Amino acid sequence: NNYYSTTNGGKTAWDVNKYLNIWVVDFGNNGLLGFATQPGGAFPANSDGLVIGYQFFGRVGNVAPPINKGRTATHEIGHYFNLDHLWGPNVGGCNEDDGIADTPLQDQETQGCPAFPVFDNCTSIGDGIMFCNFLDYVNDACMSMFTQGQKLKMLAALNGPRSGLLNNNACSWPAATSNIDLANSISIFPNPTNNLLTISTTENAPISFSLYSVTGQMLKKFQVKKSTIVDVSDFPAGVYYLTFFDAKNNSATKKIIIAK
Ligand code: ARG
Ligand code: ZN
Ligand code: CA
Repeated sequence: NNYYSTTNGGKTAWDVNKYLNIWVVDFGNNGLLGFATQPGGAFPANSDGLVIGYQFFGRVGNVAPPINKGRTATHEIGHYFNLDHLWGPNVGGCNEDDGIADTPLQDQETQGCPAFPVFDNCTSIGDGIMFCNFLDYVNDACMSMFTQGQKLKMLAALNGPRSGLLNNNACSWPAATSNIDLANSISIFPNPTNNLLTISTTENAPISFSLYSVTGQMLKKFQVKKSTIVDVSDFPAGVYYLTFFDAKNNSATKKIIIAK
């Protein structure tokens, strides 16, 4: 319970009805990677969310193979959005399942990274069990998918018991207060590109920007409100600059590369 309490050395949750809280903790090498709460489950007040060991969180820092690609969070977010393990709530037996039609019946968890296909006593034909699913226990590099059925169950959770996530204020950012703020509010991808650039800003008001050549020639002017797709396929390969201005005259310049 200390994880969930700032006064006990942890961190008190943001409003669990509006935010997905993730506590990154030290389990003290007890073998646990992480755990999550499921909608409707029984858990202490204000502990709804994920708890993940710091050595198993993200892709940089303290992580090491085979748990080094952030898949513990992927797996736990699956639970958070109501998914069960492929073998169902309990290990063993082929009668119990995860309640999802497009994940094959599976007896128990898969460890490591076996060669495809893997058969068990529940699924002994076809492509075998779906050990590469995020809701199995294989190595991070070995898990790669949710199914369509899992996706629909997660969407039902997001639009049902987890719909508070859709109603928080996290998506309405205030206007930038500095050039750095403006720069941080803008994302450009893919970069390099050969034809289209998606330019997005977390600012609410429209932002104007101009495309410049390396010699400082202004080539094109645009506006972005939230997200805009810009076609740069007419321009030759090379380095270009985008200069952004917002309504308060904050400015930021970002380099883009057009590759052919
Ligand atoms: N054991 C944990 C659980 O069942 C997480 C498993 C995550 N697996 C991984 N390869 N990261 O909730
Ligand atoms: Zn799990
Ligand atoms: Ca299934």
